[in-house]
Amino acid sequence: MNTTETKLTPFAIDVINGLEKKNKSLPSKYFYDEEGDRLFQQIMNMPEYYLTRCEFEILAEQRKEICDAIGAFNASFNLIEFGAGDGLKTKLLLKYLTDRKADFTYYPVDISLHILDELTADLQDEFPSLQVAPVHDDYFGALRQMGNFNNRRNVTLFLGSNIGNFHYDEAAGFLKQFVSNSRSGDMLLLGVDLQKDPGIISLAYDDPHGITAAFNLNLLRRMNNELGADFDLDKFGHYTYYEPASGEVLSFLISLENQLVYFPDSDQTISFEKNELVHTEISKKYKPEELEELAISQGLKPVSHFLDSKNYFTDTLFSV
Ligand code: AVJ
Repeated sequence: MNTTETKLTPFAIDVINGLEKKNKSLPSKYFYDEEGDRLFQQIMNMPEYYLTRCEFEILAEQRKEICDAIGAFNASFNLIEFGAGDGLKTKLLLKYLTDRKADFTYYPVDISLHILDELTADLQDEFPSLQVAPVHDDYFGALRQMGNFNNRRNVTLFLGSNIGNFHYDEAAGFLKQFVSNSRSGDMLLLGVDLQKDPGIISLAYDDPHGITAAFNLNLLRRMNNELGADFDLDKFGHYTYYEPASGEVLSFLISLENQLVYFPDSDQTISFEKNELVHTEISKKYKPEELEELAISQGLKPVSHFLDSKNYFTDTLFSV
């Protein structure tokens, strides 16, 4: 530690903690700075990244059934969305609901203030009558807030297989907190990528355009920008593999040579050996029965499954 008492940000603390471990790791929630948001949008547009298109198809084709199943026209409610991002898919539901004068307030939650501001402005433009109450927080912060919004029923969207960033046990912990901050009758629409041909999954995370690699490497650039670190992005690569037994895609940055990186705020030097891995992300794929078991174990009741035509992806509705 330096003697000038620099106050370290949560980002700086998480980074140092992750890089001091024997098996280095960085939290995936830090991917999403402005450049990371832009790269993730490029990922969603790649032909290899089937997830977004599958879920778009589900929401486009089955929005009537979904809105009926969540009871959108019965009484006023809060529509909360964890990890709202650019809202491209959610707009399908928002349009359907606002066209039919459903009585609700939309609470988009995102870790990226940049994308949240953009989304809010965009929605005000596109849906002038929509009530939007943006929440800038991470998932666990938002979970603590959501019990206190008001007395209306909460319907929560957690789409895009964002829950895949948790291992199974962590996902169970997340759902446990969700349930403890919910009331009976609240609902959760959970978008989850399903296990399928491993070749298709691998390609989605190791695309030939190098966009996923750039997304992963952007974490280093963000540490340079925000923490003054001196990562040389040419000296790291992107490595990822899918393990069908666990259903997990594991993503890493790999050091291409022996090197030292300096963090001025904490006056620390981190050494990387050639071929040393830094674990940056997990993207878990579920078997349908495994997903049900996960949710049921935390007291959620499956209501309906909405799948795409290829059965690659599910938006499953649960009630508390
Ligand atoms: C936004 C977490 C769902 O894991 O598929 C895409 C992020 N990482 N390509 C995913 C991501 C690499 C994505 N999620």
